[in-house]
Amino acid sequence: SHLHNFLQELPKCEHHMHLEGALTPEVLFNLAKRNNIALPSDDEAFASPEALLARYNRFTSLDDFLHYYYIGMSVLVEASDFEDLAMDYFRHANVDGVAHAEVFFDPQAHLSRGISYATVLTGFTSARQRAEKEFGITSELICCFLRHLPVPECIETFKNADLQASFKNGAVTGIGLDSSEKPFPPELFKEIYAGAKELGLRRTAHAGEEGPATYISNSLDVLNVERIDHGIRLAEDEELLRRVAKDGTMLSVCPLSNVVLCCVKEVKEVPIRKFLDVGVKFSINSDDPAYFGGYVLDNYCAVHEAFDLTIDEWSGICRAGIEGSWCSQTRKDELI
Ligand code: HPA
Ligand code: ZN
Repeated sequence: SHLHNFLQELPKCEHHMHLEGALTPEVLFNLAKRNNIALPSDDEAFASPEALLARYNRFTSLDDFLHYYYIGMSVLVEASDFEDLAMDYFRHANVDGVAHAEVFFDPQAHLSRGISYATVLTGFTSARQRAEKEFGITSELICCFLRHLPVPECIETFKNADLQASFKNGAVTGIGLDSSEKPFPPELFKEIYAGAKELGLRRTAHAGEEGPATYISNSLDVLNVERIDHGIRLAEDEELLRRVAKDGTMLSVCPLSNVVLCCVKEVKEVPIRKFLDVGVKFSINSDDPAYFGGYVLDNYCAVHEAFDLTIDEWSGICRAGIEGSWCSQTRKDELI
């Protein structure tokens, strides 16, 4: 779009991207070979990187995507795999003009395959250090729990000594809740979120992507989250919209993800204009850039194409993103 350079140069903060979702088909195939991981032989999508990419263009739902997402991450084995994956993301983020990124990861998806938490965290942590040194991009890590798994298993993972250490030593800033949204309402995870609050961790949860607006209100009321990931179905509840606007709770909206996963037919259907009109704060994010056909600047451009926002509106969106970030006040002051 004609605002491409302007949008590139805005000091953008990304709050909703899953590091495992930065795994491109090309890297996936290379790592499968290097780590001797067998890809499914009964699914033609895994015939080649090109076939896999073509399959990504035909996702029908969140669960259809998650099936490929979990197979994909099975090729991540060594700490260097996790480091390379995150560096691949940070390189794109740098080109797109991202100043600060708060990124998700899914420890349970690795622990269940016999990959230690230390392996995952070592790789991601060294990538974060390199990103700051090489690109000046600051970042925070958000540890997500997989809501499709039995709650007792999630609680056990939360209490795992390695995770607890990373919560207490500052390696991890906050917790999130992801994977299949329905039928796994937020209140199932009340105990984990209470424990996280006790530890002084920041808290967010995916809600209102496929699930109803009650998943948003219950994330706020029962889990005490400070942000909502996606939250597009907030638009269906006028009263809740006004409450979220009044409280200044930020949504991390992912427009291209919403289209690719068939939550909306086109970006125009994402309630961006409604959020602006009501004064709901939101940031714009890539979610799983290798799977959804775009990094963060592609999402900004798609929103601009659909809504033709003014320069002031864009500046306001970026400022809300800085203010809604979980970095230090010193870093926020640098970004504003
Ligand atoms: N929603 C839920 N779980 C996820 C997503 C998402 O958009 N991306 C990766 N895990
Ligand atoms: Zn997500």
